[in-house]
Amino acid sequence: MDNGAPRFSSVAAGAALELRGVTRLFGALAALTDVTITVRPGERRAVLGSNGAGKTTLFNCVTGDFPPSSGTIRFFGEDITHFPPYERIRRGLRRTYQISALFPGLSVRDNVYLACRGVSRGRFSVLRPGTNDALMHASEALIQAVHLTAVREQRVAELAHGQQRQLEIALALAGAPRFILFDEPAAGLSPTERRELIEILTSLPAHIGYIIIEHDMDVALRVVESVTMMHNGRVFKEGLPHEIEADPEVQELYLGAGHA
Ligand SMILES: Nc1ncnc2c1ncn2[C@@H]1O[C@H](COP(=O)(O)OP(=O)(O)OP(=O)(O)O)[C@@H](O)[C@H]1O
Ligand SMILES: [Mg+2]
Repeated sequence: MDNGAPRFSSVAAGAALELRGVTRLFGALAALTDVTITVRPGERRAVLGSNGAGKTTLFNCVTGDFPPSSGTIRFFGEDITHFPPYERIRRGLRRTYQISALFPGLSVRDNVYLACRGVSRGRFSVLRPGTNDALMHASEALIQAVHLTAVREQRVAELAHGQQRQLEIALALAGAPRFILFDEPAAGLSPTERRELIEILTSLPAHIGYIIIEHDMDVALRVVESVTMMHNGRVFKEGLPHEIEADPEVQELYLGAGHA
């Protein structure tokens, strides 16, 4: 289906995302120090760590919201370290925020439609919903992928918190994402909403890789194949979910930070 999304040339074997020696300073504070992380195409990774560990700063460096002070970031082989955020989005990088960024007065369907429209070609032509079948079709598919079909005509302001977070995932899926950064998507969710989130994440197309920041280990370790544990702005440990879960040093850090 042609929804007007940017086209990507086929990807050479290599990393989806590669950070080398990334440091980010805020004045005298080093939010990140010499962070090196490699994520394969399609790989799903959790980034864990207590408050202030540098997890969101890591995302900000990758998206370009706050570029690194030093170090390099490659996205599918291309050095994007100094690219503005929109150039990264054009290349298929997406993120969700710790704090919601939706249009509360619009319906679920309109939010998703606008997101699809925003990443498509011809986005500056007059907006006439209903005239662009491909975009409408893409929007409906995304709404279904995040389990919101039943509430698609509702205004976002009327949705439950969990449904709003599901909608944010739909927005991140608009266009042709190759990699998504999820910042605490389970924050504030009920147990039922958490199960729904896990189902949505594990049902994403296999070629879409992601990094998920998540304090809830029960959610994080169910939806990833690898884990990076951060502490004080540095990579503290990397491993498979069951290795990280069983690691005494990780357990101590988590217990110490109140994330038991
Ligand atoms: N824009 C900024 N200006 C100044 N300091 C910042 C900024 N963003 C982050 N920091 C600092 O960098 C450090 C890492 O913050 P960051 O938000 O990356 O942590 P985090 O791991 O996402 O924490 P949390 O789990 O609370 O979301 C903190 O000490 C924070 O105060
Ligand atoms: Mg954060």
